[in-house]
Amino acid sequence: MGVCNEMKTNIAVFASGRGSNFAAIAKAIKSGRIKKANLALLVCDNLNAPVILKAKKFKVKVALVRRDIFPTKNDFEDRIIRYLKENKIGLIVLAGFMRLLSLGFIRVYKNRIINIHPALLPSFKGAEGIKDAFDYGVKITGVTVHFVDGQMDHGPIIMQKEVKIEEKDTLESLEVKIHKVEHKLYPEAINSLIREKLRIKGRRVIISNRQSRKRPQSDLR
Ligand code: GRF
Repeated sequence: MGVCNEMKTNIAVFASGRGSNFAAIAKAIKSGRIKKANLALLVCDNLNAPVILKAKKFKVKVALVRRDIFPTKNDFEDRIIRYLKENKIGLIVLAGFMRLLSLGFIRVYKNRIINIHPALLPSFKGAEGIKDAFDYGVKITGVTVHFVDGQMDHGPIIMQKEVKIEEKDTLESLEVKIHKVEHKLYPEAINSLIREKLRIKGRRVIISNRQSRKRPQSDLR
């Protein structure tokens, strides 16, 4: 993938809140479940977010960028891009980042921004994916990891994993089940993105194993 440090991809996680996915990714890099990656930066827009303490625990640099101190969204995003460039970021991982990135920003990191959504897209888009699926009464929901494009919860899908909703489930027990799957699926998707060759063809993401190719190919197309 993109920009590497000693052959490692520098990752920036963007988060606004709790940071359980941030911690899962940090642990997966530490334990080698995500290979050839360096968790170089946390970008956070919320001064009181618990994810900041988690970044300190894992000794990850924090870029705190509050939207309210910038006159425009453009200025806010320019500041973030500066942090990303300074840290030679090759992959942006959104994990509970409560802002929509502009098309201009997405173009700068084309096919290098991914997101996790706690439902099986295209169902139950938006901020309440777990609750909306539960309230709707579906028997199967799940988790989606996808590329980010200009629309919310919309880009090409990299991986999905289903989660059954049993009769005994409450919203709280479903949340626990979804997060457990997220913490496994996101590291798996990141590792695959870094280690394998992915091609985006229309809405489809095609994964082919790099090791099986004669020449290493490093660019996402
Ligand atoms: C996750 O459920 C993720 O799917 C959604 O936001 C939530 C973030 O949780 N996009 P956490 O901050 O990683 O605990």
